Amino acid sequence: MILILDFGSQYSELIARRIRELKVYSEVFHYETPIEEIKKFNPKGIILSGGPSSVYEENAPKIDPEIFNLNIPVLGICYGMQLMMMNTGGQVQEMGQDKGEYGRAKLYIDSNQDILSGLEDSFISWMSHGDSVVKIPDGFKVIAHTDNTPIAAISNQEKNLYGLQFHPEVIHTEKGMEILANFTYKICNCSAEWTTAKFIDKSIEEIKNEAKDERILLALSGGVDSSTLAFLLHKAIGDKLVCIFIDQGFMRHKEAERLIITFKDQFKIPVIYVDAKKRFIDKLKGITDPEEKRKRIGEEFIRVFEEESKKLGDINFLAQGTLYSDVIESAGSKHSSKKQGYHSNPAAKIKSHHNVGGLPENMKFKLIEPFRILFKDEVRKVAQELAVPERISRRHPFPGPGLAIRIIGEVNEERLHIVRMADAIVREEIAEAGLYNSIWQIFAVLLAEIKSVGVMGDKRTYAHPIVIRAVKSEDGMTADWAKIPYEVLEKISNRIINEVSNVNRVVYDITSKPPGTIEWE
Ligand code: XMP
Repeated sequence: MILILDFGSQYSELIARRIRELKVYSEVFHYETPIEEIKKFNPKGIILSGGPSSVYEENAPKIDPEIFNLNIPVLGICYGMQLMMMNTGGQVQEMGQDKGEYGRAKLYIDSNQDILSGLEDSFISWMSHGDSVVKIPDGFKVIAHTDNTPIAAISNQEKNLYGLQFHPEVIHTEKGMEILANFTYKICNCSAEWTTAKFIDKSIEEIKNEAKDERILLALSGGVDSSTLAFLLHKAIGDKLVCIFIDQGFMRHKEAERLIITFKDQFKIPVIYVDAKKRFIDKLKGITDPEEKRKRIGEEFIRVFEEESKKLGDINFLAQGTLYSDVIESAGSKHSSKKQGYHSNPAAKIKSHHNVGGLPENMKFKLIEPFRILFKDEVRKVAQELAVPERISRRHPFPGPGLAIRIIGEVNEERLHIVRMADAIVREEIAEAGLYNSIWQIFAVLLAEIKSVGVMGDKRTYAHPIVIRAVKSEDGMTADWAKIPYEVLEKISNRIINEVSNVNRVVYDITSKPPGTIEWE
């Protein structure tokens, strides 16, 4: 395992993902994780991430200098390198106004050994720093520089300490993966063993050990995570798996029916269907505030779930498709100034934003969350390995509160129908154009409180707009609006206007995230 200490960089999870791409297990920990705790994980290497602070700021995240004496190789990236210098006798300085280095910078290699071994004379690196290392202590040597940064990479072979001012994890750094591979394989002596198949075997074993002969309850949503989890659990415990699907009435066109049929008939995994449509829509009467909508849906979900699970008798285990991104966000490792527990601490809080299906701790279930160490794309790989059909494993993410948060305004049956029909057209056309798998998400949003004037068949119309939202993303945390070809958008627009009543205008959302979010509510 390669352990990453997070100093608040937006790239910390990306480092973990890159290491895992090298088939070596990697996890992100809060920078204040005590050395004793770190040792328990027996890491073969430690990476100190970047971070937004300046090492000399009063409240800047600090590190226990002992970390450099553990006889474990350490790689400091950006802020991590500066911390390494500050703690071992080097010096860091602000580069002065307008002197920071942000973006692409040509990196010249001065010594292509150890961490830079096998690399050519120069390549493009990705920089993002206002401070620079200006002096290195004895034992270290400079192994690369850029025009603005004389000390851009350093190494101390004897102590196995390495520092990079640039970000090897970012795609714009041309030889980034080679550098991380050098650290992982050559310096830390890790071997490429962490594969999806291994993960599945290990999880199955753990689930069996944990549950013994007891039943495990799973709330199925039809999404990639819970469906894949159902497959995994079914493989592990067979008919001891109890799946329950609560229909809130906010699913897509025909999706609830299809889910039940597919699981029951095709996969032979029985599902208890709970029709709670009326309860949910009643709860949303008169509600327009997005947070209030989410809160009410979340609470009602818990209520229905409690009632239904009681009917099933004593079940001690609850499985959830919690992902690594949820764990990281809820454990607060992002905000390095706050000490909120190390995320190795299994007490993962479910983020309030994505709380549907997130059940309160007082429910007394023992949680089984095999995916809590996985990224979304890794879950997709698990799905493939378990032969989950592509239409589930490649399914676009869908929010827990479903179509209810894609109606801007109060939710009612008629509006649900409109947004559901528009959504069905969008998905049909995008599949028809062969674009479904190349984008993260595409969907329709109904601006239910807005009307605009139009003309159809010589008649004036006054009806609602539909917004098309399509984004490209790696993990949903940041996203670019997708450049769907005009012809496809044209077809979508025509069909929506012609086939969906009460809609007379279609607009395309061209906002990235940030500053926008992917969903509108
Ligand atoms: P935002 O809108 O925050 O969404 O940019 C990021 C990603 O998360 C999905 N999303 C949710 N997923 N429960 C979920 O399981 C939710 O409540 C929820 N809200 C947003 C969203 O579709 C996007 O992929």
